[in-house]
Amino acid sequence: MSKFITFEGVDGAGKSTHLEWFSDALRRRGFDVVVTREPGGTLLGEQLREILLNQSMNIGTEALLMFAARMEHIEQVIKPSLRAGKWVISDRFSDASFAYQGGGRGLNWGKLSQLEQWVHPDLQPDLTLFFDVPVEVARQRLSNNVSLDRFEQEQADFFERVRAGYYKRIQENPQRYVVIDAAQTLDMVKYKLEEIILTI
Ligand code: TYD
Repeated sequence: MSKFITFEGVDGAGKSTHLEWFSDALRRRGFDVVVTREPGGTLLGEQLREILLNQSMNIGTEALLMFAARMEHIEQVIKPSLRAGKWVISDRFSDASFAYQGGGRGLNWGKLSQLEQWVHPDLQPDLTLFFDVPVEVARQRLSNNVSLDRFEQEQADFFERVRAGYYKRIQENPQRYVVIDAAQTLDMVKYKLEEIILTI
């Protein structure tokens, strides 16, 4: 049976590394896995990503473009793959809009809920893995990167609000999430992911 799984966390939590390992582990078990990301995942979505990550804009525009990219992604990639019986693992989805545009930028939560209702009234991830680290740890990890995008360049207080945004979202629907302590060693996180795979 197909499953839709999303990976979330503040920048620097290490989710991309874990996503690669997790999807490889699923493939080794014989599942047909599609790995994708947001913003992005389609030709138009990747063009929007380029703009979103590099160009400053109004907060509302930022949210609308995130959801525009998401609409394409859902219709072109996510739904067709799920219908074909594949597993879809996405590096971020709508929780990131609530956390970054809602929590981080302060955009009205209700407006984001309206966009979510419009763009995917009948689709939610089966499972969301939230990689949680204290903001200082995430900032420290990011400081090793050579170039930082528009979001990664934000200050610590922005990431505190993003993290709080994720927690608000988790509280609204706790059964969909597994919170993973991403400040642990890579091996400890892998062990936790193995455990999760055994339960899904
Ligand atoms: P990210 O997934 O962290 O990619 P990378 O690991 O390659 O840097 O980058 C995407 C950025 O976009 C991230 O900073 C969060 C932001 N974002 C939003 O603000 N809202 C959204 O809805 C999504 C999907 C991402």
